[in-house]
Amino acid sequence: MRPYFLAGNWKLHKTPSEAVAYAKELAEAFASVTHRVMVAPTYVCIPQVAEVLKGSPVLVGAQNCAAAESGAHTGEVAPAMLKEAGVDVVILGHSERRSIYGESDETINQKVKLALSAGLEVILCVGETLDEREAGKAMQVVEDQLRKGLAGITGDQLDKITIAYEPVWAIGTGKTATPQDANEIHQGAREVLADIYSTEAAEAMVIQYGGSVKPANVKELMAMEHIDGALVGGASLTIENFAPIVQFDK
Ligand code: G3P
Repeated sequence: MRPYFLAGNWKLHKTPSEAVAYAKELAEAFASVTHRVMVAPTYVCIPQVAEVLKGSPVLVGAQNCAAAESGAHTGEVAPAMLKEAGVDVVILGHSERRSIYGESDETINQKVKLALSAGLEVILCVGETLDEREAGKAMQVVEDQLRKGLAGITGDQLDKITIAYEPVWAIGTGKTATPQDANEIHQGAREVLADIYSTEAAEAMVIQYGGSVKPANVKELMAMEHIDGALVGGASLTIENFAPIVQFDK
């Protein structure tokens, strides 16, 4: 049985003071949770949020990291710096990093390797655009992103990697993939993982769904065989919405 993993991606929201205040709410609300839970503030909030969440079951996430360990990379933050700042998990390959900031599969793969070597867990995001889905290429895109994102990653590293399937057309739109459609891609992703590694390894991997997850749809999504959690954007920003998602009861 795979553990459910619910993660909140705060994206470009919450100043350090807002993040600290919210983290205190989260620490209290999630003092004892059934499922794994993580929240990913912006870089500048991480040290203070990590301090508030120290000793709490809530893991600290980062929304990205550098593709280098040090050097002339203006504006970047290295995985080892995030680790020392208190980060447990880093989100990589998010569609907004790919579409807005032009990150390639190769760059994402480099980040995956560096993040793992720095002792961070990784959430690797994959997902198709609406055009790709309407062209019937959704599974092909997801397979390609998985194979390239995991290039050179060995089977014994997989326990530190979560996959997040985020159909781009469902992110921030209020359009959620139907549980059946999402589960179909998750199953296909698991078959790709089995082909790259082994059936046993693939069955053990957690695959989150992301894209307009709300309290109203979380239970139906999590009931699907191949959906093991959620990567939540908008609904992760308030305790009123995030608590029912994290504490969903199957
Ligand atoms: O990383 C999660 C995010 O992309 C999903 O956003 O607002 O549709 O839950 P949202």
